[in-house]
Amino acid sequence: METPRKKKGTIPDFLERKRSGRRITMVTSYDYAFASLVDSVDIDMILVGDSGAMTTLGYKNTVPVTMVEMLIMARAVSIGAQNTFLVGDMPFLSYEVSGERAVENAGRFLKEAGMDAVKLEGGRRTAPAVQAIVRAGIPVMGHIGLTPQSASQLGGFRVQGKTMDSAQAVVEDALALQEAGVFAIVVEAVPAPVGKMITEAVGVPTIGIGAGPDCDGQVLVLHDMLGLFERFVPKFVKRYANLGAACRESLAQFAVEVREGAFPASEHCYPMDAEQARELREGLVRAGLLR
Ligand code: KIV
Repeated sequence: METPRKKKGTIPDFLERKRSGRRITMVTSYDYAFASLVDSVDIDMILVGDSGAMTTLGYKNTVPVTMVEMLIMARAVSIGAQNTFLVGDMPFLSYEVSGERAVENAGRFLKEAGMDAVKLEGGRRTAPAVQAIVRAGIPVMGHIGLTPQSASQLGGFRVQGKTMDSAQAVVEDALALQEAGVFAIVVEAVPAPVGKMITEAVGVPTIGIGAGPDCDGQVLVLHDMLGLFERFVPKFVKRYANLGAACRESLAQFAVEVREGAFPASEHCYPMDAEQARELREGLVRAGLLR
């Protein structure tokens, strides 16, 4: 029996999910292979996150990644995942300079890379850019709380909204983004009660990452949850697999088998008629090409 084809969700579907309480699932992907895997299971959204700067391109943080690098990763993901809602993460300084630049860059994610929406970091300060992009007809997901692109301004990768004032500021960020027209908001690294209050304050779905269980959905960085990124693991990550260890084991086994002559075995070789092979050898020897 054929497995039923997954149906790509729409923005009205996701808004309805907030009302019905059926939680939204999102993971990141940065290439064709993993995007195809995610597309084959019941995950609602893929974020081509700028975390790919670290997990895939090896940069120290997300600041250096360029529009071109993001578009290359996003295009590969859109080829692999045709039945999953796709969100492209706008890199640092691709939306801050001017509304025009923000709209142009957001548009490239849809036109050149097959994304369904874009994501921008920041609350009240980013609202004008969000508004400009939404006015151009491009769906926008917000991102508040810990915003890694401005981590140095926030004093590092720290939990946000821990004091009364800073928690209120994060709620105000959420409301400003809603007013600007976002269809969903990622809420990163805030105390669980703050995640709950933000979720209650806004009419659009919240997607939590380190924001507690009461958000309307959850997102994880794929390489964190699968154990493929080992530089550090944030507190909010649950490891569902240890693929890093599995990869290392397989690679070591390959090296041993090659050195021992156990790989390739006969099933990995193209056969040739023995008589033909003998004649070929004799001919090559006669021609002085083989001793
Ligand atoms: O880039 C990313 O992966 C993100 C998630 C942490 C939400 O923005």
